[in-house]
Amino acid sequence: MTILDGKALSLKIKDEMKKEVEELKQTRNIVPGLAVILVGDDPASHTYVKMKAKACKEVGIYSITHEMPSSISEAEIIETIEMMNKNPNIDGILVQLPLPEHIDSTKILEVISPKKDVDGFHPYNVGRLTSGLDSFVPCTPLGVMELLNEYHIDPKGMDAVVVGASNIVGKPMAALLLNANATVDICHIYTKDLKSHTQRADILVVGVGKPGLITEDMVKEGAIVIDIGINKTEDGKIVGDVDFEHVSKKASFITPVPGGVGPMTIAMLLKNTIKAAKGRN
Ligand code: GUN
Repeated sequence: MTILDGKALSLKIKDEMKKEVEELKQTRNIVPGLAVILVGDDPASHTYVKMKAKACKEVGIYSITHEMPSSISEAEIIETIEMMNKNPNIDGILVQLPLPEHIDSTKILEVISPKKDVDGFHPYNVGRLTSGLDSFVPCTPLGVMELLNEYHIDPKGMDAVVVGASNIVGKPMAALLLNANATVDICHIYTKDLKSHTQRADILVVGVGKPGLITEDMVKEGAIVIDIGINKTEDGKIVGDVDFEHVSKKASFITPVPGGVGPMTIAMLLKNTIKAAKGRN
């Protein structure tokens, strides 16, 4: 069994990104810029946004966080995004999700210029991704593909099972695996018999947010297991959705939590922001 070390790969990517930022500065006098919009006081969102800002700073990307109270109106968020769309020093715009209930996320995400959509959540980029065209790709599934590539795992012809069908993770993950010529199965809360699907997976990707969801009996011998879950247990420990202790004995490759997909997500945000900066007129 091999651990898919996302922490190590993310550090390597950050080093590469740092060099790319220096080169952009020297050759085109561009400092990539990222604007983050954070609404409300969800502690996890605040933690993620701080981690994103720190990572930007480490590689030389300019970043600014617009913190807004949860009482803010949709119109005010839209106004901020429109300002960022026009700002020539901002290459990427990220609205941290989830948004408060009274805000229509779809409406907000559609205001972001597709050229600055470093999260890849705008329907323009979603459409291009599913069509197999160049696009901004959501950071978490993109990070999974990078991690597979680093360990020379080619999904072509494999049976891939994605558990969780969110717009942020499951659906784009399935699109990427399909684009990589895997046979893809997507499971969700209405799936009748989850185990009958997961047992067939050569690559099993799980992003649900339920600790212990995937047990040893649900995994095929030699499977590649990717755990996207980040859950806090009662005693404050961070665990994924997979019973790592037992599943790791059956898997050929597996991601740990923490230190697997999590750090890759942030590395991909840096990558997407630099991609956006390179596309400046
Ligand atoms: N909330 C959970 N994951 C993400 C993400 O990748 N991007 C944004 N914007 N919000 C999130």
